[in-house]
Amino acid sequence: MPLMDWNDGLSIHVDFVDDDHKYLLHLLNSLGDAVRENHGNEALGKILQELLYYTGYHFSREEEFMSEINYPHLFTHQQIHNKFAREVRTVFEEHKAGKPVLTTSVLDMMKGWLINHIALEDKRISLFLNPPAIKTFDELNDPQV
Ligand SMILES: [Fe+2]
Ligand SMILES: [Fe+2]
Repeated sequence: MPLMDWNDGLSIHVDFVDDDHKYLLHLLNSLGDAVRENHGNEALGKILQELLYYTGYHFSREEEFMSEINYPHLFTHQQIHNKFAREVRTVFEEHKAGKPVLTTSVLDMMKGWLINHIALEDKRISLFLNPPAIKTFDELNDPQV
């Protein structure tokens, strides 16, 4: 039962970032399906490894982009990324060690985290790039403007 999937409201209007987000959501959905269909530990481990790799890859190129555009909240954003990347690594290591860590609630938590992060933190990058137009007092009061 996918929590929520990609929709245009999640777009930050930077193609490579949107594509990465779609792929990460796809990986989390695949992992969820594989868990529910009782795939073996090795198959689950492969998807988890790809998720771990791609999370790191995405975070670093998103951070590089923020740095290029002189995004003012890069440091905080980076720390949020680092914390989540550590959590994914822990799940990966524990799964590898044979612990039954891949539960639907853990997966729902990861997916919820990703969607919230896109909708709240990554969206701020989009707002920084395209700030909403602010009308002047005169414009607000003059229907002709
Ligand atoms: Fe981010
Ligand atoms: Fe992102």
